[in-house]
Amino acid sequence: MANTKQILAINRFDARHAKGLDAGLQSLIARREATFGASSVLVYQRPIRMVRAEGVWMFDADGRRYLDVYNNVASIGHCHPRVVEAIAKQAATLNTNTRYLYDNIHDYAERLLKTFTSGLSNIVFTCTGSESNDFALRLTKSFTGGTGFIVTETAYHGNTEAVTEVSPSSYKTRTVPPHVRTVPPPDAYRHPTNDVGARFAEDVAKAISDLARNGVKFGGLLLDSIFSSDGIYADPPGFLREAVDVVHEAGGLFISDEVQPGFGRTGAAMWGFERHGVEPDIVTMGKPMGDGFPIGGVVTRPEILESFCETTGYFNTFGGNPVAAAAGLAVLDVIEDEGLIENASRIGGYMRAGLQEIAGRHPSIGDVRGAGLFIGIEFSLPGTTDPDPATTGHVINELKERGVLISAAGAYGNVLKVRPPLCFSRDNADLFLETLDAVLSQR
Ligand SMILES: Cc1ncc(COP(=O)(O)O)c(C=O)c1O
Repeated sequence: MANTKQILAINRFDARHAKGLDAGLQSLIARREATFGASSVLVYQRPIRMVRAEGVWMFDADGRRYLDVYNNVASIGHCHPRVVEAIAKQAATLNTNTRYLYDNIHDYAERLLKTFTSGLSNIVFTCTGSESNDFALRLTKSFTGGTGFIVTETAYHGNTEAVTEVSPSSYKTRTVPPHVRTVPPPDAYRHPTNDVGARFAEDVAKAISDLARNGVKFGGLLLDSIFSSDGIYADPPGFLREAVDVVHEAGGLFISDEVQPGFGRTGAAMWGFERHGVEPDIVTMGKPMGDGFPIGGVVTRPEILESFCETTGYFNTFGGNPVAAAAGLAVLDVIEDEGLIENASRIGGYMRAGLQEIAGRHPSIGDVRGAGLFIGIEFSLPGTTDPDPATTGHVINELKERGVLISAAGAYGNVLKVRPPLCFSRDNADLFLETLDAVLSQR
């Protein structure tokens, strides 16, 4: 089997390829490396110098247009005019912190909380998904008294110290810390005959027992409800139910990380966990929440938040500021007014059908799966389920040369992550399908 890959290593630019690039690109890359140092990560063998974006399109410095099939930050479309206007207007009026009263953050909080069941009635605003997950870990520890967490093998939940410990896809040389256990993702492709939900619940139960055997009290199960970094696992709907029951029976909390599937992407509902008919104890959100404006949030039950606030203060200078609230409200308006959840369902279904047809002609595609506009295309060595990251890397770079932006996920970096803005049209879908077909036909 191919070696496992860190998420950031997938399709990463390698400086050894810099020689063939034009002088302008070489100079920008050199400036970047001189200032960003070892943390610099660029994508594509030939990096792109982006200058502007609009809807589903991005434009480089040479005026070349790219179809964005990858972006869940600009989830309702790049530079959406209603979001841009809301941000600009509010920034010109008032921008301060939540220690003052102002109306729009409460309009926003109430409107967002209406999308949850009544128990999940408190929200804490942050600026990023990482901060949201960091806070969720702290809430869980204080409410349960447990410090043990369970995550999937290739999970990514963010970049703080505590969150990196529960993000195995970020480990380079470090190993899983003593308070963390990993479980395999609910993979119906490699285990088609298993009951996916029962197997997943069994793995979670084993991990809880193992923590206990090693003297670690269980705190919670933290999952991205579409398993994006693990390789996108969506079906069958409902497969999370048994595992969530196991967690609750053991006195733990279920944290649903909605940074990727949230805000309608799965085409079924506002939140990814809803497809599985489960009620999380804590929900974390970020990326698509402000269509590019940095805003995040943690939704939970009042008693969970109270247990934390009894012992510790929490203040977030930028979280929930009036400009963030204006961006968040505009995003909710657009999702509703443009029918984006229905569009994700309709165009997502159309794309999956088109991809199945292409897979029938190209044996390198082992599986097509997903929900709404979050689709995984898994490349396997023909006739096997062994991962084929080489073909995946080739396809990503060839698509880019033909004006289509996409990247990959999964433990081996062999699953194309199809995650376009939710305003993707049928014409956009056709262009993507035709270009992918052409790339595979030339391989
Ligand atoms: C599932 C998931 N959770 C959390 C995060 C962290 O979000 P941020 O980069 O905004 O801190 C990410 C980012 O990729 C993510 O994919």
